Amino acid sequence: MRRSIYIETYGCQMNFADTEIVNGILNEQGYELAADLESADAIFVNTCAIRDNAEQRIYGRLSNFEHLKKRNPHLVVGILGCMAERLRENLLEQKSVVDIVCGPDEYRKLPALIDEAFQGEKGIRTQLSRVETYDDIVPLRTEGISAWVSVMRGCDKFCTFCVVPFTRGRERSRTLEGVVSEVRDLAARGFREVTLLGQNVNSYSDGEHDFASLLTAVAAIDPRLRVRFTTSHPQDMSDRLIEAIAAHENICSYIHLPFQSGSDRVLELMNRTYTREHYLDLVRRIKERIPGVALSTDIIAGFPTETEEDHRETLALLEEVRFDGAYMFKYSPREKTRAWKMGDDVPDEVKGRRLEEIIDLQRRISYEINQAMIGGNERILLEGPSKRSDAEWLGRTDANKSVIIPKAEFAVGDYVDVRIVSATSATLFGTIVSQVVTEAA
Ligand code: 5AD
Ligand code: SF4
Repeated sequence: MRRSIYIETYGCQMNFADTEIVNGILNEQGYELAADLESADAIFVNTCAIRDNAEQRIYGRLSNFEHLKKRNPHLVVGILGCMAERLRENLLEQKSVVDIVCGPDEYRKLPALIDEAFQGEKGIRTQLSRVETYDDIVPLRTEGISAWVSVMRGCDKFCTFCVVPFTRGRERSRTLEGVVSEVRDLAARGFREVTLLGQNVNSYSDGEHDFASLLTAVAAIDPRLRVRFTTSHPQDMSDRLIEAIAAHENICSYIHLPFQSGSDRVLELMNRTYTREHYLDLVRRIKERIPGVALSTDIIAGFPTETEEDHRETLALLEEVRFDGAYMFKYSPREKTRAWKMGDDVPDEVKGRRLEEIIDLQRRISYEINQAMIGGNERILLEGPSKRSDAEWLGRTDANKSVIIPKAEFAVGDYVDVRIVSATSATLFGTIVSQVVTEAA
């Protein structure tokens, strides 16, 4: 009988892409995907370690698995991803429900680890690699029109708050040929959108090609295929890359460009390697070269020593750039990082209040930007029924904004031209102008 596995994924898009790689590896070895948690012979959690609350959530899940294991003592439970890498044997020692701990560069060892676990042996593999890119693994994607394609792994930036360089190791890139052939296959299978992924895609290099070349090669595969990418680091965002985005219709005019803090003093402590002025200048060049570009960002509130003045500079930067959206976080100290030794001196209620101010301001800006789109036309790619109602469809604009339209004779993956009729800070609502028959993105 074939054994079945079920993977629950938390955290960033890299983790979702990694889960498909793991499913690809295990499927190749004869495992099938279980329909749900309860029917699986082995359960894995692909974990995130970026902030403490991400880890607390996983501990909560592990308690639930204890109940499942009482019912089925043969059940195998494994931890994958960044928490596995960060906590290693501590997870095995402290959480008796855990049988397998496997870090992000060791997924090829999973079939052996699972075999051992079914024999009753616990196992751990957490070696980081300088070369592993899983370039030859075909990720198992089960549904959808949109695919994550990881193009590089790891990060060499060592921002002082960030655990990623320790959990995902050094930067390394797949070959351009490997990525292009994977995307060609996806396009042939009917996928309509790919997102090229890496912790810092701008520093992609396979020795011969940089990220601008990779993006251009992927965009050339099929004009109907939308191409997105994330995450960009302001330091490595080259003019060549900006030109590549500007030059290709099907490379989405949307850039996720974390700035973290508006204060030069804090940026320096964070080792972000750019100043506020450098960042603003980059944004000016991007807006000039890519008209209508949408920008999003990441912000941390309450980094060690952050003053009210530093915080006001973050708010002012938000006002100045006017991002379409932002991911906003309270600083969370992480062991091993340089910031860990700086203490955590901003009281939690101050962090919370600053975060609220950042969120409120960004919500107002997103609302204003979306309101200004009312009356305009947008081309959307249909993703499926809306969450709210079966009588509505959800699609996404080039700028990655969600648009709700009335249901009509369309299929998932169709492009539709719509007129925006109303908007909130998070969602646009549209009416149908026409279905796009010219097969362009
Ligand atoms: N505390 C809070 N936020 C963090 N991030 C990374 N590390 C931390 C931390 N220790 C945020 C950054 C990064 C995003 C992925 O997570 O904003 O860009
Ligand atoms: Fe972490 Fe900085 Fe690397 Fe992003 S660029 S993964 S924040 S170290």
